[in-house]
Amino acid sequence: MASLLLTGATGLVGSRLLPRLVEAGFECRALVRGDVALPAAVTGVRGDLDDPDTLQAAVEGVDAVVHLAALFRTRDEAAIWRANRDGTRNLIAAVKQHAPNARLVMSSTGNVYNPDATRPALETDECSPKTAYGASKVAAEQLLRDSGLTWVVLRLPFVYGEGDGHLASMQALAQQFGLHPAHAYAVAHHRDIAAAVRLALTGVMDGRIVNVADGAPPVTVYEMARLAGKPIEGSAEPLVNPWSGHLDSTLLHELGFTPSVPTVYAAARDGIL
Ligand SMILES: NC(=O)c1ccc[n+]([C@@H]2O[C@H](COP(=O)([O-])OP(=O)(O)OC[C@H]3O[C@@H](n4cnc5c(N)ncnc54)[C@H](OP(=O)(O)O)[C@@H]3O)[C@@H](O)[C@H]2O)c1
Repeated sequence: MASLLLTGATGLVGSRLLPRLVEAGFECRALVRGDVALPAAVTGVRGDLDDPDTLQAAVEGVDAVVHLAALFRTRDEAAIWRANRDGTRNLIAAVKQHAPNARLVMSSTGNVYNPDATRPALETDECSPKTAYGASKVAAEQLLRDSGLTWVVLRLPFVYGEGDGHLASMQALAQQFGLHPAHAYAVAHHRDIAAAVRLALTGVMDGRIVNVADGAPPVTVYEMARLAGKPIEGSAEPLVNPWSGHLDSTLLHELGFTPSVPTVYAAARDGIL
């Protein structure tokens, strides 16, 4: 049975991915910072990306690392850089030393792309993020690409589903950041994030950056808020850039991915929002 370390297992994405990795047959460890309940059969390893000394026990002997841990729901930019760039550097160093043959799959974000894009973003596009979060992820990606390890970068879209509250947060986010209701994001359901990670763990994505999205037309802020039962007002104001937030997922699909949740509307119908 292949063994795997998951970082970020307590997060919005990781807590839904971990049971699926167990179900897929991986012997799972999770890097955790506190006393947390983990699925049966998962070994929790206490550690922190900020503390290199805690990472040896987490990575020792694993066949793969799925690195989700990150910081971005804060305005503290120094903390964002520390967690996302420096934490990834610490993790890479530990893997190189204690599990040098492990495959390291890291989640990045569509926020690495230029928000002034003139078409859906492709993996080969130059990254020019406008936020510390996006920039710290570009830096972390680069560290991984230069690491000499076997690596995969998955650039995730807006992830939703299974009562995670993400869609429901759109009403507040729209207000906080002045999002246009017609602004649209590429999305993927938690089930399909797990499918993309499982595909990455087969090796077909080694040495590649891959956008992850369900491949359906991006979903507007207005639709997200309405589907979550927290509607916002529409607007006839022109949208400044209709392409911002769109991810081209051709590569992912070419590599064998087929979404099991094709659209947010299918998720709503099936009661898995
Ligand atoms: N959610 C999305 O829609 C979305 C979209 C694009 C990309 N992503 C990417 O997907 C990944 C997961 O996102 P998420 O939404 O699940 O994030 P989240 O809910 O904020 O969870 C973050 C996770 O990282 C852990 N973490 C943070 N700093 C750490 C440190 N220094 N050491 C160890 N663990 C640490 C947290 O642990 P604690 O519980 O101990 O704080 C938590 O488990 C991130 O890489 C993010 O960039 C997510």
